[in-house]
Amino acid sequence: VGDRLALTPPLGWNSWNCFAGAVTEKNVRDATDAFVNAGLRDHGWTYINIDDFWMTKNDDRDRTLHGPERDASGRINSNPRFPDMKALSDYIHSRGLKAGLYSSPGPTTCGGCLASYKHEKEDAERFAEWGFDYLKYDWCSYGNVEHGTGRAYYAKPYDLMGRMLRAQPRDIVFSLCQYGMDNVWEWGDQVGGNCWRTTGDITDSWGSMSGIGFKQDGHEKYAGPGHWNDPDMLVVGWVGWGPALHPTHLTPSEQYTHITLWSLLSSPLLIGCDLTRLDDFTLNLLTNDEVLDVNQDPLGRPARRVVKREDETEVWARPLEDGSIAVGLFNLGEEEATATVTWAEIEAKAPKAVRDLWRQRDVEVDSNGYTVKLPRHGAALIKVTPGA
Ligand code: GLA
Repeated sequence: VGDRLALTPPLGWNSWNCFAGAVTEKNVRDATDAFVNAGLRDHGWTYINIDDFWMTKNDDRDRTLHGPERDASGRINSNPRFPDMKALSDYIHSRGLKAGLYSSPGPTTCGGCLASYKHEKEDAERFAEWGFDYLKYDWCSYGNVEHGTGRAYYAKPYDLMGRMLRAQPRDIVFSLCQYGMDNVWEWGDQVGGNCWRTTGDITDSWGSMSGIGFKQDGHEKYAGPGHWNDPDMLVVGWVGWGPALHPTHLTPSEQYTHITLWSLLSSPLLIGCDLTRLDDFTLNLLTNDEVLDVNQDPLGRPARRVVKREDETEVWARPLEDGSIAVGLFNLGEEEATATVTWAEIEAKAPKAVRDLWRQRDVEVDSNGYTVKLPRHGAALIKVTPGA
């Protein structure tokens, strides 16, 4: 549907993995300031996305969410924790960033807050008037009110909201959050999706992250500029909700694997952590321009798995716009391992240059291939410039 937006994968922050249902306007403003002060903006990071719980929920569990759901003309209201959505998006814009928010096609969101069912037009208009640039649109509760099976059923609410968003006098990135149902990668683009979740929710563990990431092979042919596979948000820094907030359980090596793989996959990169607690390791992980350039490569061709070996090492590769090839080497095993890629495997002539992108330095060119020692669950990312 005319890819005009998100010509490279969106880069930003999302409130869910650290604030979940407790999120407030202050959290979002603080995240915006921390985002800018940490310098993320200067590396291409752009979106500040408010997830679930900015709208009302009128049950007795939490009175801070109470309020009139919609006004007399059907326009959705935010809850008292978000007193002025327009002022908030203005603030985000004033810091040189873009603003995102969240809804669901059913009557309520996954968190039980008011959602867009039968108000798609009013909501799209409202989001545009408020000045939002990105909508994550979930699935929750739609199945309680509309029943069916198959592609037509799953695509319908996204097609509807996609049309409403495109009718607005504002560019709004449309993110489909429906967990890969009915192979969404095959039809997400047709309903105007700029990205679509290919799986269920990621959690803070090696099993979850690697289980999702290394299962993405085969989806690469459906993505490209303006329409991306989304294997879910980044588990880095301080994550977990409220009193459970803690540094990610992923080891440093596992975090290198996470960012390496998500970059190779052209995934949207949405930081899920509390940015007011950003440590140097996490910041470095997120601001390596040579790595981000792989994610943002304008050719927009995600990696495929080149080889999976018996020793639990894998090689993934993608072509880049300048004719070079980005190659990830991974060790999924429990012990240190030596991973190898041969130039023949990536169909490259003996290279002119090979660069280690995490270390940002050229490495010696070998006529057969590249070999590297990787720690348990670790990764390397190289850029291979083939010879003539
Ligand atoms: C679903 C989504 C999450 C988050 C929550 C909000 O679980 O997959 O990313 O948006 O809903 O309730």
